[in-house]
Amino acid sequence: MEIFGTDRHKIIHGDALEALKSLPDNSVDLLFADPPYNIGKNFNGSIDKWKTEEAYLEWCYEWLDLCIQKLKPTGSFYVMTATQFMPYFDIFLRKKLNILSRLVWSYDSSGVQAKKYFGSMYEPILFCVKDKSKYTFNADDILVEAKTGAKRKLIDYRKAVPTVYSSEKVPGNVWEFPRVRYRMDEYENHPTQKPIALLERIIKASSNEGDLVLDPFSGTFTTCFVAKALNRKCIGIELQDEYVKIGLRRLQLADEYKGEKLQKEIRTFETEKIAGINQQTLFEPNGTHIHD
Ligand SMILES: C[S@@+](CC[C@H](N)C(=O)[O-])C[C@H]1O[C@@H](n2cnc3c(N)ncnc32)[C@H](O)[C@@H]1O
Repeated sequence: MEIFGTDRHKIIHGDALEALKSLPDNSVDLLFADPPYNIGKNFNGSIDKWKTEEAYLEWCYEWLDLCIQKLKPTGSFYVMTATQFMPYFDIFLRKKLNILSRLVWSYDSSGVQAKKYFGSMYEPILFCVKDKSKYTFNADDILVEAKTGAKRKLIDYRKAVPTVYSSEKVPGNVWEFPRVRYRMDEYENHPTQKPIALLERIIKASSNEGDLVLDPFSGTFTTCFVAKALNRKCIGIELQDEYVKIGLRRLQLADEYKGEKLQKEIRTFETEKIAGINQQTLFEPNGTHIHD
């Protein structure tokens, strides 16, 4: 296990179970866990597939228990997994925590979609707290437009003095954020990078400036990147050194790693731009499809 960074922004390069055990109990304000889903993704050569589903769940139960142990009594826990495993997480966690929301991160289609069944267009997230009468929820920091009130300027005549419907509301439990695509600025070379916007909503809602945010499966370190930008402290744990390098660069904790200069990988369209190839592109810079 190797530790990088400062007291405020720390990266632990190592196994999540071991790293979690090394942290003090009851010390974390917000924990976001986005583990391998046991669906065969390739994390820098390590295939995300356990021998059996039971073995995957046993492993998950172990780190889920550690996460609970590390959370402060006032802490919040957001956890993701594949749709087929979420019911097991739900049953396991609701005996130990209060599940306040069962969120759906819904996204638009991209690439080849299923033709003989209904393709998967969402990922589930559980939002849990230790104490449902004492936890952070900064509703005002995450308001979204309330379509009815804002767009249609409806008036609520049930009130003593008729008033315009509120133009903002706390988001419901279906969250629409585009997946991170190759052409987006935030893109990093990782198969399951989560969008900045998703973590922004979670961190703003469930932590305050100066709080400690922990992510035991950091990947591209989106959680820590957003936590740092929002003046939170963070600890990110990750097993693969290729991804630790992304974290060190994204969090501006180092310029080099073992003698290697840390630079964002140049994407194919950027090479073409550098080489001055004025080729007609199928996509606009923001990834919008403009030709077939
Ligand atoms: C679903 S991805 C996380 C993606 C991340 N949320 C992001 O936005 O980029 C899961 C990550 O867990 C890492 N991982 C797998 N097993 C691990 C373990 N035992 N300890 C720590 N990290 C692990 C993988 O390398 C992978 O980067």
